[in-house]
Amino acid sequence: MNVEGKPTRTIWVAADGLGVDIIDQTRLPHEFAVARLDTLEDAEQAIRDMWVRGAPLIGATAAYGMALAVRADASDRRLDEAYRRLVATRPTAINLRWALDDMLAALRPLPPVMRPAAAYRQAARIADDDVAINAAIGENGLAVIRRLWKERQAAGADRLNLLTHCNAGWLATVDWGTALAPVYKAQLAGIPVHVWVDETRPRNQGASLTARELNWQGVPHTVIVDNAGGHLMQHGLVDLCIVGTDRTTASGDVCNKIGTYLKALAAKDNGVPFYVALPGPTIDWTIDDGIKAIPIEERNPSEVTHLAGRADDGRVTAVQLTPDGSPAINYGFDVTPARLVTGLITERGVCPASRDGLLSLYPERRPDA
Ligand code: MRU
Repeated sequence: MNVEGKPTRTIWVAADGLGVDIIDQTRLPHEFAVARLDTLEDAEQAIRDMWVRGAPLIGATAAYGMALAVRADASDRRLDEAYRRLVATRPTAINLRWALDDMLAALRPLPPVMRPAAAYRQAARIADDDVAINAAIGENGLAVIRRLWKERQAAGADRLNLLTHCNAGWLATVDWGTALAPVYKAQLAGIPVHVWVDETRPRNQGASLTARELNWQGVPHTVIVDNAGGHLMQHGLVDLCIVGTDRTTASGDVCNKIGTYLKALAAKDNGVPFYVALPGPTIDWTIDDGIKAIPIEERNPSEVTHLAGRADDGRVTAVQLTPDGSPAINYGFDVTPARLVTGLITERGVCPASRDGLLSLYPERRPDA
């Protein structure tokens, strides 16, 4: 997508062909900064400390992290160590494990001397595939938006109001985004979309990242506090909720940023369609019950007790919200049961959030396939 008019991805190989450049998302929205990763340890830190985040981008960064590791030492021992360290950086997004499995399968059979070049090639393939997958999600989601817009337009509406949670835009992927890809495609198709952006406490990925990228792309949007969505839905001001996911189970349960479940409940109560956009690698075919089986990341409570922002003098600073001595807990994700999801938007099409729905799009996953 575009940053100040310049086509930009979130991760790319540096000009010297060795390092890997990323957008340091901890500096957004106030500063656009590129950080360079040179080692496995750099990649580990970038994922763990959320310089990069969002399920697909975590996967792509881990793939490049593996390439950086084997560039320095292409032995079996280092390959396995890189896998172990990278897979432990964030527990919830399944794309991380998927990308590392893919890298390992490509590199393991090769003699060490061939591994570094192959690792960069494979990581680039994962990144390019992510872009193509998300563009296809955008087209499939556009069909949903187009249908709803026709209905709303016939009822006299002058814009289509979407609500999204967290950041599932291009900053969460290599390019295009998942939940926001259909929004960008709708904008290109001339549909007057407007996005309600949940701020998404505690790290505020909505307020700082989704707003930033919608702003760069010129998509009309309004940032709201996390608690406002239900009120807007009760007053007919949301036509469609669309979110991303960090892990979707084989039966269509959806794990996404904490607070997503409450939006799905409010959507159900108000008859608002609730769609989830996801690439195939986000599906965890090994589990069914998301509430029981998906590990929920717990992050540092300081993300709850403190808030970062730009002060009037222009400096970005953190302030403490809570009284000294009040404990806090910081769950990163929650699970929205499939029964609350209107449909899953994938690169292969849109399906019901159910085992049969997913298998209709991914028939190679049928037990008898
Ligand atoms: O903790 P984050 O910022 O990595 O969480 C990101 C999300 O929850 C996104 O909604 C999700 O990864 C889907 S992104 C395409």
